[in-house]
Amino acid sequence: MPFADDVRAGLSATPKRLQPKYFYDELGSRLFEAICATPEYYLTRTEAAILEAAADEIAERSRPAVILEFGSGSAVKTRRLLEATLRRGGELTYVPVDISRSALHATEAALRAEYPRLTVAGIEADYPEALARLGARGAGTAGLRTLVLFLGSNIGNFDPPAALEFLGAIRNLVVEGDTLLLGTDLKKDRHILEAAYNDALGITAAFNLNLLVRINRQLGGRFDVRRFRHRAEYDEDRRCINMYLESMTDQRVRIDGLPLDVALAAGETIHTESSYKFSLADVEHMASRTGFAVETMWTDEREYFACSLLRAAPHGTPQRAR
Ligand code: AVI
Repeated sequence: MPFADDVRAGLSATPKRLQPKYFYDELGSRLFEAICATPEYYLTRTEAAILEAAADEIAERSRPAVILEFGSGSAVKTRRLLEATLRRGGELTYVPVDISRSALHATEAALRAEYPRLTVAGIEADYPEALARLGARGAGTAGLRTLVLFLGSNIGNFDPPAALEFLGAIRNLVVEGDTLLLGTDLKKDRHILEAAYNDALGITAAFNLNLLVRINRQLGGRFDVRRFRHRAEYDEDRRCINMYLESMTDQRVRIDGLPLDVALAAGETIHTESSYKFSLADVEHMASRTGFAVETMWTDEREYFACSLLRAAPHGTPQRAR
């Protein structure tokens, strides 16, 4: 069972870590939606405004018959793009990929009800599994113009080599001329970034601590959540927010289902997420390294967030190293 294996490996490692993909059980997905509504977490509403303004142009430039979205969640922002594409006429299939069954099923049902002309064919999987399944099925290569969406700065949750690997895998999935719309949170003042991950209502803290609740529920863990605190700090050198669960006391925690005893010292941390921030040059660099050319970039007035439309270049196009 991957969750059990990953928890065992991560809590036996030095330093301790848990993978961010495990945030998204049913409660975690709801808490993430709530984070998006906090005043401090500007990412979602900034990206939504950019997409709202650019939706027709994106639809015109990409002319998709298939929209494939990695990490679709509730697909609130995606609706503008679906509507803009449907307005152009023709058939449209939407393929949302999400690790959370509850979020995926709710999104599929809602979209089918809202857009009778839209075909919805979701995939419940993490990214590697979805890529494998889509590759086997020949998605995007069956002569159907494909627009891949990777929004919300989800790319920021990969470390830089893994981000390149993932974009390269998307490039291998599509054909020349297909497009990728990439949402990226931009580098900015650390106070704004740190506030976004330390909201005053404590929702991000609950989202982070819910990992322990999930281990308790699914693996028979005995974590006392009150003995941990949420921490999120900006690392200026690596340009990422790091999230941790910090043990507030010396403690030993049993996880019956593994079985495993986890010893934690007061102040010791479990790393749960990195969230990288980008410059526009970083986005161009990632695109050129992975077989895409930047077609258009949109940002908001404050340059807090960017949406970039990347077009799949011919395979083997020499890429400039910058
Ligand atoms: C999903 N992902 C892009 C979010 C982020 O900002 O890294 C997850 C998140 N973690 C804490 N708040 C939001």
